[in-house]
Amino acid sequence: MQPITHIVGARPNFMKAAPVIAAASARGIPQRLVHTGQHYDRVMSDVFFEQLGIPEPDVNLGVGSGTQAGQTAALLLALEAEFAAHRPGAVVVYGDVNSTLAAALVAVKMGIPIVHVEAGLRSFDRTMPEEINRIVVDSLASLLLVTSLDGVEHLRNEGVPSEKIAFVGNPMIDTLLSNASRFDAAAVAGLHGFGDRYAVVTLHRPANVDDQAAARSIVEPLLRLASKIPLVIPLHPRGAEQLAALGLVDNATGPQHIKILPPLGYVEFLSLVRGAALVITDSGGVQEETTMLKIPCLTMRPNTERPITITNGTNRLIDPAGLESAVDDVLAGRVTFSSDPPPLWDGNAGVRIAAEIAARYGA
Ligand code: UD1
Ligand code: UDP
Repeated sequence: MQPITHIVGARPNFMKAAPVIAAASARGIPQRLVHTGQHYDRVMSDVFFEQLGIPEPDVNLGVGSGTQAGQTAALLLALEAEFAAHRPGAVVVYGDVNSTLAAALVAVKMGIPIVHVEAGLRSFDRTMPEEINRIVVDSLASLLLVTSLDGVEHLRNEGVPSEKIAFVGNPMIDTLLSNASRFDAAAVAGLHGFGDRYAVVTLHRPANVDDQAAARSIVEPLLRLASKIPLVIPLHPRGAEQLAALGLVDNATGPQHIKILPPLGYVEFLSLVRGAALVITDSGGVQEETTMLKIPCLTMRPNTERPITITNGTNRLIDPAGLESAVDDVLAGRVTFSSDPPPLWDGNAGVRIAAEIAARYGA
């Protein structure tokens, strides 16, 4: 059998791919691991391979950063050469990043089947690059592996035949559960010095950090909030410059307690989240992780492709004007959460995914 080829490139891919690669390996499925190089800083890439025990990629295409079109174009060319040199039996793509989109476009035109892990999520917001990527990849994939049942409904509504769809659960949650014993808030307390009462903030969506007016509308209430509860902010490189220019800077000893950190390794980040009073974020993955860790999550977005984290979790959508009252609700304990985690977020998604791949692509 030709190997299946996993495509990873950006931070959220790594924790989704780790359990799939491990389960496929346990089944003896031949595999090749391609890192596109979309993310390349040690703290955005290598640290996850080390901490999560992901094998060294067979190749790193070194594509790097660019505009939406520039980066996608570079990915297309590099992946076409990769698939020509090492023709996959099937290509496994993860989530909604540009590496995912490019791999699917190249594969479909070369007649290579596409397996999409985390299919069916929809924010119904086409201003998000990720929403375009999701729609295109799902329209091209031959096996659509879904993490929450709303995803199945979206795909059925879009006319995807049910035999292409499998509800397998959430591999990102496999990674969370299998590493949970390593999440130790006390061990990372030295990163911020705020003891056990703090909020974690992550921001990197283009709609929140690229536009100056939008970024300012978020920074101002955050600065006010910081006199109420200390903020610990591991900053994604996309937001770093703009947010700092608007005044979101390290201020651990002033009246506003703010600790700005570089992007953290997986274990350090989830340790920080586990010890937090709440999380304020625009990340997709963090909405899911806080749901499982039962940490209140305020998502600074008008929509989410992960509504299951609201119905079956700790998530709530907010806008900048609503930040303060939402935080007050959390700190005063005026919030209730579903006690049941989402269906099949049970630590076995990787095994189910490997079984689906083996059944369809003949390992
Ligand atoms: C990408 C994904 C987004 C995901 C995020 C996770 C797309 C369209 N977006 O967004 O869905 O939520 O990753 O983190 O694929 N940079 C560095 N070092 C790095 C990587 C990036 O400094 O290792 C900087 C560069 O200035 C780059 C910018 O971050 O231009 C944005 O990187 P890019 O991969 O284009 O998009 P993200 O915002 O990271
Ligand atoms: N994460 C991390 N360190 C950080 C921030 C995030 O390890 O400083 C992890 C966390 O597990 C998160 C994942 O990276 O779920 C992907 O997050 P990101 O916000 O980059 O991407 P998204 O999920 O929004 O696409």
